[in-house]
Amino acid sequence: MYRMICRNYEELSRVGAHVMAEQVKRKPDSVLGLATGGTPVAMYAALSDMYRRGDLDFSRVTTFNLDEYYPIRKDNRQSYDFFMWDNLFSHVNISRENIHIPNGETKNPEAACAAYDEAVRAAGGLDLLLLGIGVNGHIGFNEPAPALTLATHVTELDASTIEANARFFAQKDEVPRHALTMGIGAIMGARRLLLLISGDNKAAVVKKLFSGAVSTETPASLLLLHPDLTIVLDEAAARLL
Ligand code: GLP
Repeated sequence: MYRMICRNYEELSRVGAHVMAEQVKRKPDSVLGLATGGTPVAMYAALSDMYRRGDLDFSRVTTFNLDEYYPIRKDNRQSYDFFMWDNLFSHVNISRENIHIPNGETKNPEAACAAYDEAVRAAGGLDLLLLGIGVNGHIGFNEPAPALTLATHVTELDASTIEANARFFAQKDEVPRHALTMGIGAIMGARRLLLLISGDNKAAVVKKLFSGAVSTETPASLLLLHPDLTIVLDEAAARLL
């Protein structure tokens, strides 16, 4: 594992964008796994800037997003589909047919999840997967539990996740109770992992993450078993280390 502590969110975002950009420059047809949430917003803005300046080409890139609320309409501003178009896809030259996001509108979530794993396999697997971490240690929407699911699946959100994500919705009861998420199998199957952690409110989970133990009760700790993991933190998130 490679760990880097940045001064602040801006620096962390620049470093994250640099890692993603280098991957795409080295392999223009990279298969990227993408995350949502507050953390990657400035990183996506930096990648969009690189494209605008002519420094980065997304035309051959394929993407798979980690997760999506369920059920949710794509035109809901809080859907991860909307987030990705808003923050990245509409600003760069990625091909629509190369974009994959779990379908929050599907009537048959089990079949959609199985098809998602198959699509990742058919694309040759993920070259680089960007991840954030929940305040409870979740990865994607793999919530703390005695056992974690390997495959992409429908999951019920933790009360703490609903609480944390309520800030994006008008009211807490608008947060969907379920989600579709890549399982821990697809996540650990990515060739490289990049975990970004920013902010004071992540300090406690960061301390747990580096406690020296691995547990499905802190799903992010499993990432420490991956042979090519980069963790980029800012000083606020690292303050209890
Ligand atoms: C969300 C997403 C995760 C994300 C995490 C952290 O619920 N499902 O994929 O990494 O929570 O989000 P934030 O960056 O807003 O703290």
